[in-house]
Amino acid sequence: MKPLLTDKVAIINGGATGMGRATAYLFSGEGCNCVIADVNEEEGRKTAAEATGRGSEAIFVKCDITDPKQIKDCVNETVKKFGTVHILVGSAGGSVPRDASTRPRNADGTPRIGVEHTDEKHFDMMTNLNYKGHVFFCKEVVPYFKKQKYGKIVLISSMGVYHPPGPSADYHGAKAAIIGLVYNLAYELGPSNINVNGILPGPVKSPFWDPVLSHIPPEKRSAAMDELGKQCPIGRVGQPEDIANVCLFLCSEMSSYITGQMLSVAGGIPMDRYQPGVLMGGGRRG
Ligand SMILES: NC(=O)c1ccc[n+]([C@@H]2O[C@H](COP(=O)([O-])OP(=O)(O)OC[C@H]3O[C@@H](n4cnc5c(N)ncnc54)[C@H](O)[C@@H]3O)[C@@H](O)[C@H]2O)c1
Repeated sequence: MKPLLTDKVAIINGGATGMGRATAYLFSGEGCNCVIADVNEEEGRKTAAEATGRGSEAIFVKCDITDPKQIKDCVNETVKKFGTVHILVGSAGGSVPRDASTRPRNADGTPRIGVEHTDEKHFDMMTNLNYKGHVFFCKEVVPYFKKQKYGKIVLISSMGVYHPPGPSADYHGAKAAIIGLVYNLAYELGPSNINVNGILPGPVKSPFWDPVLSHIPPEKRSAAMDELGKQCPIGRVGQPEDIANVCLFLCSEMSSYITGQMLSVAGGIPMDRYQPGVLMGGGRRG
C-alpha cells in the first residue's frame, strides 16, 4: 500500500514521549517529515533519531508550549527546514507538579485536593499547558494551512472530561476547552480545507501516569495500570500506539470528509454522558 503521508510535514508537540513519540514513529514510516516540539530535550532527540531511522527526516525543536514566542519560533524553524507545515498533532499536556512547600496538607501529610485548594499560579500553568499552548500553536500553523488550502489538526483531550477519575478541575477544565476549540476550528477552517479533530484517550500506559500514581511504589505502578484497564469494556489499558494509529487516520486522506469530531479511543468507555467514578473507583476526593 502507498504510504499515507508522503512528503507531508508534521509538527508533533509533546512528541518526546508517550503518544506523541508513537505518532512520530508511525508518521515517519508513512513518508512524513516530523518536528518533535517538546521541553524534554533528551527524550525528544531520541524520538527524532529513531523516527528518522524509520523512513523520513525528523528533527527535535525545543519548545515550551506555554510560551507563545517559543511556539512562533518552532513553526518558523519548521518552515525554514522543510518549506511548510501540513499537520499539527497537539499531544503536549499532563500535570504540572505543584510547589510542595505551599501545598495544603491533611494531618497524615497527604496533599489536600479539591477545587477549594486551587492555587492560582498552578492553575495558570496547568491551563497554559493543556489549553492555551494549543490555541497558540493553531494560531501559528493556520496561516500556512490556509495558504496551501490544506491542513490537518488533531488535538488530544481526555476521557477524564466525561469520567473524572479523581478531582483535577484545572486539568479536566482545560481538556474540556480543547473540545470547544476543536468544534470551533472545524467550523471556522472547514472552507479552507482544514480538518480539525480531537481524540479522547482513556487510560494509556505512558509517562503521563508517573506524577498521577506517585503515591504508588514505582514497581507496582504497572499492575495498577493493568487494574485500570480491566475497568474498560475492552479489558485492557491502552498503549501509545492505539492513539498514534487514530492520529494517522485523522491526518491522512482516509478521513478527508471527517472534521469537528472527538473520537473516544478508550477501550469502549463511552463519551456520551457524565459518569464520574467509573475509573479508579472515583479516586480520593478530599
Ligand atoms: N496517558 C493517558 O492515560 C492519558 C489519558 C488522557 C489524556 N492524556 C493526554 O494525552 C497527551 C499525551 O500524553 P502521554 O500519555 O503521551 O504522556 P507523556 O507524558 O508521555 O507525553 C506528554 C509530553 O508532553 C511534553 N510536555 C510537557 N510539558 C510541555 C511543555 N510545556 N511544552 C512542550 N511539551 C511539554 C512532555 O515532555 C511529554 O513528552 C497529554 O495531553 C495528556 O494530557 C493522556
